[in-house]
Amino acid sequence: MKEIQDTWAKKAKEEGYRSRASYKLLQINELHKLIKNSDMIIELGSAPGGWSQVISKLKKDSTKCHAFDLLPMEKVEGVDFHNLDLYSNEFEKFISDLSIEPDLILSDMSVNLSGIKLIDDEANKELNLFCLNLSKKILSSKGALLIKTFTNQNLKTLKKEFEQSFERVFTEKPKASKTSSAEVYLLGLVPK
Ligand SMILES: C[S@@+](CC[C@H](N)C(=O)[O-])C[C@H]1O[C@@H](n2cnc3c(N)ncnc32)[C@H](O)[C@@H]1O
Repeated sequence: MKEIQDTWAKKAKEEGYRSRASYKLLQINELHKLIKNSDMIIELGSAPGGWSQVISKLKKDSTKCHAFDLLPMEKVEGVDFHNLDLYSNEFEKFISDLSIEPDLILSDMSVNLSGIKLIDDEANKELNLFCLNLSKKILSSKGALLIKTFTNQNLKTLKKEFEQSFERVFTEKPKASKTSSAEVYLLGLVPK
């Protein structure tokens, strides 16, 4: 299995992607055609830029993309990067000043692991709920929210909240995601 997983890292290097994570978005996007149907994209937790590169490659020229991370990120063509913590006042101001509603919000965020499962799960749950609440505030009426989350005791409740918030909900585990990792992606389409 290690061999298969290493294949994605090798492929990323060969194809000029900054991270193997690019293939996770490519594979989910292949199923749901999210990027080409969006005019305004918000990407949360974008560094080092693997997903931004995919967005840059697949988006329409006219599509705007704003990417955020608390770590720095090298420039990706066609993506406006903001070195901000989502929990900061600056981020809140950016969002309240937006003049166009995003039709796609993407989050590959997860917290730095403390090693204590309960603490990490709660912190990731907070990030997930942050994304869900943000989508309720700013997503366009036909928009989509895709977030990374984890198979743990919180997933059932989170999925229920997605089902209450979106017309259609999918749980995706792309091939490029390590089978040994608990990560999965939740996609909500069309806010209720
Ligand atoms: C798995 S990495 C993202 C990888 C990215 N999708 C790629 O393809 O290169 C998760 C990112 O979430 C960011 N992150 C976590 N918490 C954050 C927060 N509160 N505000 C902004 N970024 C955050 C981390 O700094 C990290 O860079």
